[in-house]
Amino acid sequence: MSLPPELEKYVAIKPLYWDPEAKEFHWLDTRLIPFKEVYRSTRDYRRVAQAIKDMEIRGAPAIGVAAAFGMALAAVHSNASSLEGLMKELREAQKVLASTRPTAYNLFWALDRVMKAAEEAAAKGDPGEVRARVEEEAVRIYVEDIRANVEMGRIGSKLIEDGDIILTHCNTGALATAGFGTALGVIRYAYYEGKNVKVIATETRPLLQGARLTVWELKKEGIPVKLITDNMAGLVLRQGLADEVIVGADRIILTGHVANKIGTYMIALAAWHNSKPFYVAAPTSTIQPVEDPSSIVIEERSPDEVRKVLGQHLITVPDVDVYNPAFDVTPPELVTAIITERGIARQPYKRSLRKLLQG
Ligand code: MRU
Repeated sequence: MSLPPELEKYVAIKPLYWDPEAKEFHWLDTRLIPFKEVYRSTRDYRRVAQAIKDMEIRGAPAIGVAAAFGMALAAVHSNASSLEGLMKELREAQKVLASTRPTAYNLFWALDRVMKAAEEAAAKGDPGEVRARVEEEAVRIYVEDIRANVEMGRIGSKLIEDGDIILTHCNTGALATAGFGTALGVIRYAYYEGKNVKVIATETRPLLQGARLTVWELKKEGIPVKLITDNMAGLVLRQGLADEVIVGADRIILTGHVANKIGTYMIALAAWHNSKPFYVAAPTSTIQPVEDPSSIVIEERSPDEVRKVLGQHLITVPDVDVYNPAFDVTPPELVTAIITERGIARQPYKRSLRKLLQG
């Protein structure tokens, strides 16, 4: 599938794409990066759900886009002859895809959007129309995500000075989105503008998205990167070795609470204590229009992710009790600004985020 030329030049790494002739969805298996680059493909939405669950595809925006293509697969490969039959299958696909990862808001946002398109088309009474609209909407979500990333990069880059060293957590680059990145997109854009930027990447235990994915992406583009373990972030900020922090988000609510990869809160605390800006970059599709932080569901993953490294090497006693939350929530008072494709939100977030969502 070709992208509009103004966006194509920003997609150096293609983490996922749609083949409109074969009606097939393709993605890079991020579990294998940086050791192997393997693309996988399917015509079955259940396989897409499995890929999200197993983290072959991960990162909130990428999960949303993949789920939208999952719905497209369910629509175009459905054998249902009646409109009712097709809509029933689409509702089932929505349920299966929604059950994969509970924190990434983009997942629910994308599924709702595709389902709404399907329902609008269904009003015309033609199953063929529904199939076409669902595919069209998924492609639209994919292109919009890249466009939003690039725009966020352009807007966020204004916050970065020439010569800055930026601390980031997890992976928020091409591999976490449809192809450019949120926090890493801002860094990437600043670099493309000729700013001399350097990155400090945390390894991001337990699944090592920083060490495996962020380092791989930055090295590929020649952006200088230094890897640290997660427990070094406090010292790095204390020693003034980073000028600011930029992270992504899995879910932001109107109060400005930010759910992101486990460890983000700890870094935000260290940034605040050392008077360093703590920026969050996320598209508006990550913002859930609610105000109750206790409604944010934090995913808990398998204990073996903590007991083992890279799913193989046991690093503790095999039956040790483990707590493995995949995300934490950073409160708004620690967040200097939220960078979106529609502008930068600052405190009070209830006002600024609502305004961005309306705009
Ligand atoms: O568990 P993951 O790898 O899906 O977590 C990803 C993150 O926490 C990212 O920071 C977030 O999704 C923003 S990605 C643009």
